[in-house]
Amino acid sequence: MSMKVLVIMGSPRKGNTYRATERIREIIEENVPVEWETVMLKDAHLEDCLGCYQCFEKGEEYCSLDDDASLLEQKMKEADGVIFATPVYGFQVSSLMKLFIDRHSYIFHRPRFFRQKALLLTTAGMAGTSDVLKYLDLVARIWGFDVAAQVGIWSHATFGPLPPYVIQENEKKLRKAADAFITALKRGTRSRPKLFDVLGFHIGRAPSDELGELAPADRHYWADQGWLDKGRRYYVDVPINPLYHALGGMVEWYLRRTIRRDLQAVSE
Ligand SMILES: Cc1cc2nc3c(=O)[nH]c(=O)nc-3n(C[C@H](O)[C@H](O)[C@H](O)COP(=O)(O)O)c2cc1C
Repeated sequence: MSMKVLVIMGSPRKGNTYRATERIREIIEENVPVEWETVMLKDAHLEDCLGCYQCFEKGEEYCSLDDDASLLEQKMKEADGVIFATPVYGFQVSSLMKLFIDRHSYIFHRPRFFRQKALLLTTAGMAGTSDVLKYLDLVARIWGFDVAAQVGIWSHATFGPLPPYVIQENEKKLRKAADAFITALKRGTRSRPKLFDVLGFHIGRAPSDELGELAPADRHYWADQGWLDKGRRYYVDVPINPLYHALGGMVEWYLRRTIRRDLQAVSE
């Protein structure tokens, strides 16, 4: 059976970043049959978020914008693996990638991509790679993705044309990332959540429960998934390091207490 891979392309052109994803595609296709789709965000219809909070509070279906956000979410849901690819622009992701993330910000509150593997890719002329990868990692993991690989390669030209040894290094990095992605896709099961992921679960659980009908969309979503059930350790049923669980429980207890105290103060 073939795997579905979706590329979310944050470069406005079919340049260095696109070529890097195509190289990854070649490597993957040598190993497993794959159904490949690249979404050029430049060609997608995404409008600026209006900051109305409807998606957070009531649900994404209440968004007044009529654009491709939900279509892109659906594509991610149907994929087995998603490659988030962006050039470094001004030491960060491109504005296309940032808009894509902003338009799906409700997913930070109501994570959903627990079946999917992610590969994070960036290209840069000089600097900013680690900040961009760190940021994409944060986003993808909070959205629920199992991040299988991260890769940053050098493109042209800040210091002139790329010397052959950099081209070789790039190739090595792309191959390593593609191999890790293939392994994760073939394995299918989730890797063990790290401390960050477990803390994320508990940090999300406290307001989703305590705010109740002040944030109904989150409350209902979390309740429907069983995430508010007593003793629940994580979004999905995977072994959790007991120390992470204990730390997460403490953070959640503290947050719940703070939220209750603040709600009390507001109501006085
Ligand atoms: C508007 C803009 C801003 C950029 N900012 C940075 C930067 O902050 N750091 C960096 O290393 N390269 C920067 N670059 C270079 C690109 O990241 C690099 O050339 C990248 O490979 C371009 O990808 P593309 O060919 O897919 O468009 C910038 C390029 C552009 C066009």
